[in-house]
Amino acid sequence: MQILSLLRSRFEQALDGWVADPASHAARVAVARDPRNGDYQANIAMPLAKPLGMKPQDVAAEVVRRLQIDDLCEPPTIAGPGFINLKLKDAYLASQLAEQAADSRCGVSRVAAPRRYVLDYSAPNVAKPMHVGHIRSTVIGDALNRTLRFLGHHVVSDNHLGDWGTQFGMIIYGYQHFADQPSFAQDPVAELSRLYRLVQQIIGYQSSIPKLAAAQAAVEAAQARLAAAVALPADNKDRKKQIKSAEKEIRNCQDTLAGLNAKIEPVAQSTELMQLATEHAGLETRAQLETVKLHEGNPDSIALWQKFLPLSITEIESVYERLDVHFDHTYGESFYHPMLAGTVQKLVDSGMAVESDGATCIFLEGFEAPMIIRKRDGAFLYATTDLATIDYRLEHFQPDAILYVVDHRQGEHFQKLFAAARACGHEATEFQHISFGTVLGTDGKPFKTRSGSVIGLDYLLDEAVERAHQAVCNPDRLQKAGLDMSADERLQVANVVGLGAIKFADLSHNRTSDYEFNTEKMVQLEGNTSAYIQYMYARLQSILRKSGVDVNQDTIADFTIELQEPAERSLALQLLQFEDMLHLTVEEYYPSVLAGYLYGVAKQFASFFDQCPVLIAETDAIRKSRLAVCHATGQVLRQGLDLLGIGVVDRM
Ligand code: ARG
Repeated sequence: MQILSLLRSRFEQALDGWVADPASHAARVAVARDPRNGDYQANIAMPLAKPLGMKPQDVAAEVVRRLQIDDLCEPPTIAGPGFINLKLKDAYLASQLAEQAADSRCGVSRVAAPRRYVLDYSAPNVAKPMHVGHIRSTVIGDALNRTLRFLGHHVVSDNHLGDWGTQFGMIIYGYQHFADQPSFAQDPVAELSRLYRLVQQIIGYQSSIPKLAAAQAAVEAAQARLAAAVALPADNKDRKKQIKSAEKEIRNCQDTLAGLNAKIEPVAQSTELMQLATEHAGLETRAQLETVKLHEGNPDSIALWQKFLPLSITEIESVYERLDVHFDHTYGESFYHPMLAGTVQKLVDSGMAVESDGATCIFLEGFEAPMIIRKRDGAFLYATTDLATIDYRLEHFQPDAILYVVDHRQGEHFQKLFAAARACGHEATEFQHISFGTVLGTDGKPFKTRSGSVIGLDYLLDEAVERAHQAVCNPDRLQKAGLDMSADERLQVANVVGLGAIKFADLSHNRTSDYEFNTEKMVQLEGNTSAYIQYMYARLQSILRKSGVDVNQDTIADFTIELQEPAERSLALQLLQFEDMLHLTVEEYYPSVLAGYLYGVAKQFASFFDQCPVLIAETDAIRKSRLAVCHATGQVLRQGLDLLGIGVVDRM
């Protein structure tokens, strides 16, 4: 049921033959911001007044006169300077809701003209622990994947794993020099991540030491500036401003210094690590050499890479398993390596790429720096792989659109990549960077543990499940709610609530903004959380169970819905907007639209439940009608959450 498009098409018909481009004017029909004005509002008359040489109110009156809409709406009213307010007929709402309730797809049809999408998301860098930043790409990408597919589009999901990067040089070097073979035999993944962290730690130490003196000097200089500012006469206009700016400067310099110290201290405090740092001077360069050897195809390096890769991938897959995330392909960067020389050659032959300073570059209009696709030393870059990947995807999947769900910091990379793709003639394809903000800790800074390392993802999932167990399955609450749950059921509920909470906290925020990661808040049963929505779902399931009436897809046709109370009418209206919301969600690829909608439905259900007795309704007919409304709500909540990758439970 797409009410909005239906209303718009009626307006289009009314305007047809009277004004130019009726569709663009009809697009100004929208959900009413203030329900007191009705359900929908058309702001059509004002923009048409001038071109038609009429008063807006007269335009509105003429639109209403031409409009054939009385099968759907009460007679439209005109307000203020010419707003046309529409209120759907109760009988229409009721019959549509009954139809939707009887449909296993909640009345959502598959699009008439499906598009082909390639969706590039998750893409962690193998052999490094997957961290909270990867949640965003994985969860947003998965939600878009599910929603696009549900609407009937074709989606190829491809996890562009970073399986060929410099981290392998680090691990190979670490393995060759620092490995503990018995540990490796026992738990290879743990040993590899220990080696990665060890090499990273030593490199961090070695690169920080030379910067230390300058950073200390900067703090002192800023402190001197502060002292000078403080010493200014109290009536100096600039004094306050200068003090503030010096204080800010001190904080920044201190942050930099603290960052360096965080890298230096753990090594400096360990004799063992200090010895390694001395023996392996210039470790960064040594590790880079290992990466070069790997990329050149050195058999020993390749053998180690082949030994390590599956280990790490198995671990990543276990996280996907927990999150119920699945990909059609996981080609990864290494897959494209053999194609890179050809990609560069083709670009050079076509004149797109040129030599500059020994490197091969693409100069793009609107960008200062060129896109380097081959370095002077012959090495290929991230961008080269992405160009080859585009060629491959266009050839094999013929997509209408390629979407990249990646951190906002890669914005410039993608703008250049898309400009290059367009310059290569791929103008018909839609390229989108589905960019997202940073995950912050409760201190407002990028989310990290106290030691400064990024927390592993598995650990975070465990924590959310644990918190959900405390918040939802604690004996006190269960007893009050009259829920007798086995330990198994409690675990299962905590799992669905905890994992859902992690996803919903992410998806409910506009993806371009940063958000604060707080497992305690995200599992709360009150507020804008999935736990709240899941709780409403469980409540309505409990009503349906207690009713003793069998309401399901097959029997629902025997129920007649009647909308008497304002709360049930509002709920019906919202439920019928489900399909419109799904289209809006994928219009600019914002899962937050769907998340916000579901929260709205859950809240509206709570008011309905408050104001409209179901089990003890006055008459049997009202009782049946309300049971049908509960059923319809349950379907939308379950289906909607599923499109966000979130489950429900029948009792909680
Ligand atoms: N592995 C990359 C990273 O973690 C993300 C890859 C995104 N996809 C792409 N086609 N570039 O930064």
